[in-house]
Amino acid sequence: MILNIIPKPNKVELLPGMVDISSLPREYEQNDFYPDEYYRIEIKDGKILIATKGEQGKFYAEQTLRQMAVMGKVPNCIITDLPEFPYRGFMIDSARHMQTIDEIKKYIEAATLFKFNVFHWHLCDDQGFRIESEKYPLLNEKGSWRSCHGFGSKNMEKYGGYYTKEEIRDIIAFCKERFIEVIPEIDMPGHTTAVVSSYPELSCRGVQIPLETTGGIFKNILCAGKEEVYEFCCGLLDEIMELFPTDYIHIGGDEAPKARWCNCDKCQQVIRQHGLKNEEELQGFFVNRIIAYLKKKGKKALCWNESLNSGLLDNSAIICDWMDRKHLSEDYANKGGKIIIEEFYRYYLDYPYGMTPLKKTYDYNPYLEKLNFTGRQNVIGVETPIWTEYIEDFDRLCYMCFPRMIAVAERGWTSPKNADYESFKKRVRNCDGLLKEIGIKIADSTEWDPDITVRINDQLDRLKTVLSPESVKTFLFPNKDD
Ligand code: ACM
Ligand code: ZN
Repeated sequence: MILNIIPKPNKVELLPGMVDISSLPREYEQNDFYPDEYYRIEIKDGKILIATKGEQGKFYAEQTLRQMAVMGKVPNCIITDLPEFPYRGFMIDSARHMQTIDEIKKYIEAATLFKFNVFHWHLCDDQGFRIESEKYPLLNEKGSWRSCHGFGSKNMEKYGGYYTKEEIRDIIAFCKERFIEVIPEIDMPGHTTAVVSSYPELSCRGVQIPLETTGGIFKNILCAGKEEVYEFCCGLLDEIMELFPTDYIHIGGDEAPKARWCNCDKCQQVIRQHGLKNEEELQGFFVNRIIAYLKKKGKKALCWNESLNSGLLDNSAIICDWMDRKHLSEDYANKGGKIIIEEFYRYYLDYPYGMTPLKKTYDYNPYLEKLNFTGRQNVIGVETPIWTEYIEDFDRLCYMCFPRMIAVAERGWTSPKNADYESFKKRVRNCDGLLKEIGIKIADSTEWDPDITVRINDQLDRLKTVLSPESVKTFLFPNKDD
């Protein structure tokens, strides 16, 4: 018999006899010796005994019991459980399309059920800036609004908005009650069209540009040669640190084409002045200045793996490994740096099931091949992002994420030696009712692992959507200015 629990507990001892746990009295045992996230549940002798160090373990035991309650009668048993990784994150992109506060809370409720403990909130990008800023009001007056709703659509209806500080505090408090830490992302130096369209003087050319209205990689990044850019970034981060109580700030660092930097006197002057070899090293210089500022404030930075390309990155940065063909993240971990696995072909949930079937997500082992013993210790966890360029409503978002995000939850918690895809699929079906109660509609099981025809069609469709001539050009020639 399988117990309906996701993530699969790391140790279950079945005992004789079946019971209805809803009617059993509960007892609690506290022990300082246990790790924070550990819990033990003993269902026997007509009672439930929960043992933990404190409230977090108790909360996870509750999630396990919530799922078991759906099964009706369950066997007497002893469950002893502790996560594989300390970092189990989900990311929502609210920059491309916003979700309502109520929708975000539903997603968090679902993540709670599966013991996620980090909400990485992607709040600023080329197509919109989504945090209320009192210090830099143009980020909201200009940077929060673009000239169309759907990407690439002919409908030029103005679209946008931002979350007020009160709404953001509400989400942070909601997460705190569920032992989830909220880490905001302020992407820099690239993915900053919303910033430079609000404050054009922060770009190399200083010209007024509109927000982007399609997906892609864009050249109008922050200038790395102007002192006022560093002042702006630190000033904005001050406001962010005041709002978000976390010790961790994600500073992006991904997809920053160097075309403007190559042709900017000020950027070139910094390269010469600091003896940097090229624009890639200039990005290392930029990011390290920001990391040093955060360090002074007692905070740690997370960065996407491109920040390793300079070879200069401060080793306190935590690397989010999403697409790293050169295996720089593994080298970094092998030398002592911390990494989080967010693999594009497995953990990115905005791609169709034909491209990323559920089994492919589930079967991916976050302990990457090139990690040595030290490197394995430095994988602090997993994270699964949902990017929303082509996801305009919450039902679509849920369809894309569920059940694939649940698979990542299991890989974040359950030891690889206990992973079991066939039982996972059955357990997901048993969770359907709980997710419906929360307001989450999951993809039908016939869609989870499509056959070869659907796989080919989905991949062709997806390519057609994302490959605009402009983004192909930028991808192929990131340093070519025009
Ligand atoms: C990313 O997908 N650009 C991190
Ligand atoms: Zn510049």
